[in-house]
Amino acid sequence: MEEEVTLLRGLGLDERSTLVDLGAGTGTLALAAAAMCRRVVAVDVSPAMVAAAKEKVAEHGASNIECVQAGFLSYEHVGDPADFVYSRNALHHLPDFWKAVALDRIAQMLAPGGILRLRDIVFAFDPGEAQRFIHAWLESGKARPHDGWTCAELEEHLRVEHSTFGWLLEPMLERAGLEIEHADYGSRRVYTEYVCVKTGRS
Ligand SMILES: C[S@@+](CC[C@H](N)C(=O)[O-])C[C@H]1O[C@@H](n2cnc3c(N)ncnc32)[C@H](O)[C@@H]1O
Repeated sequence: MEEEVTLLRGLGLDERSTLVDLGAGTGTLALAAAAMCRRVVAVDVSPAMVAAAKEKVAEHGASNIECVQAGFLSYEHVGDPADFVYSRNALHHLPDFWKAVALDRIAQMLAPGGILRLRDIVFAFDPGEAQRFIHAWLESGKARPHDGWTCAELEEHLRVEHSTFGWLLEPMLERAGLEIEHADYGSRRVYTEYVCVKTGRS
């Protein structure tokens, strides 16, 4: 997470910034970022995750983090517009129609020039190449959960979650007024990391 905070700082995160983490889980990024900014809102739809995040925040005595139980489609941002929205490994929970709605909502909560840092399983290949890239991805699954995602977990992800192609997601970002400044597709082309900037369009 330190690397991510360093990246965010390079993009302008400082002691005046508000950061919203959507699908924040137990608040690891929120905690790492809180020391560098004014306000952090850690949002997650799961009551269990929010409870765990609150516990961690209390343990660390971080007074500038709010933990909110809400989802991409229900979180209502109050206060100054966000300078940063962060989301890792969470947007794929929504089918594409709802991803587009969620991205539009993200654009609305960002200040002009604000940044969306989005990291998720996003496929950067054509449908005709799917067999090759997915096979290689499944092959990369770890033997034990302790070491990372197992092949069975990756298969389950493909079956029941809503990871999509980059060439579908990217027009959704652009349509929401989130200009893609940087996209890193990784060597396996199954995980993409975006930096997007809110333009004047949204
Ligand atoms: C794989 S975890 C990632 C957690 C954290 N971002 C991280 O990188 O460690 C996915 C998180 O997304 C949350 N989530 C699932 N659907 C969501 C939704 N519609 N809105 C917000 N969060 C959601 C889950 O509760 C879970 O905490």
